[in-house]
Amino acid sequence: MIRLAQEDDIRSMMSIERAADAVFRDIGMAAIADAEPMPADALHGYQRSDRAWVDTDDLGRVVAYLLLEVLDGVPHIEQVSVHPSYAGQGKGRQLIEAVAEWAGLQGFSSLTLTTFTEVPWNAPYYARLGFEAVPASQLSPGLRHVRAHETAIGLDEWPRTAMRRALSN
Ligand SMILES: CC(C)(COP(=O)(O)OP(=O)(O)OC[C@H]1O[C@@H](n2cnc3c(N)ncnc32)[C@H](O)[C@@H]1OP(=O)(O)O)[C@@H](O)C(=O)NCCC(=O)NCCS
Repeated sequence: MIRLAQEDDIRSMMSIERAADAVFRDIGMAAIADAEPMPADALHGYQRSDRAWVDTDDLGRVVAYLLLEVLDGVPHIEQVSVHPSYAGQGKGRQLIEAVAEWAGLQGFSSLTLTTFTEVPWNAPYYARLGFEAVPASQLSPGLRHVRAHETAIGLDEWPRTAMRRALSN
């Protein structure tokens, strides 16, 4: 069941990120696998402002989550992580569709994210969900800032891109 995150979901969210990112080791991106998960206080910030959604299994355990922010008036997916034991079951897609629906109902006309261009479950996957690459020359100031930060922390060791999905309201 997809629902807004609660305070006591934070610990599960951190362990999901650690487990989900481990798959990057298999494709030679150990630095991503080894990166520390987002700190609890940052996750609390998303949760307190109702910008964190989780999905649960049949027993009510949190198995996936999505974090959203609003950049220059455009909702932006900061993170989506699915525990590897539950990967490939459509949970990532359902979280993204739930947030796209929420954003459409709020009157937003697009949704953005940044991701690795060549990782099969990143940009090619988001393209199948309706996202298109945003050329560097067309980045909003907020997205430019996000991309600059990503470059500064070394993520551009592998090609990355911003992507945008138009929402039908
Ligand atoms: C990316 C992620 C959120 C997708 O969640 P999910 O619940 O597994 O996603 P879905 O079941 O909706 O779909 C998985 C898609 O990835 C593709 N995929 C997964 N692993 C793949 C692989 N090794 N090679 C090629 N494609 C792969 C599947 O084919 C599927 O695409 P399709 O439904 O269009 O066929 C999840 O895999 C994850 O948490 N990955 C690690 C962290 C990450 O990369 N997060 C995103 C960047 S912040």
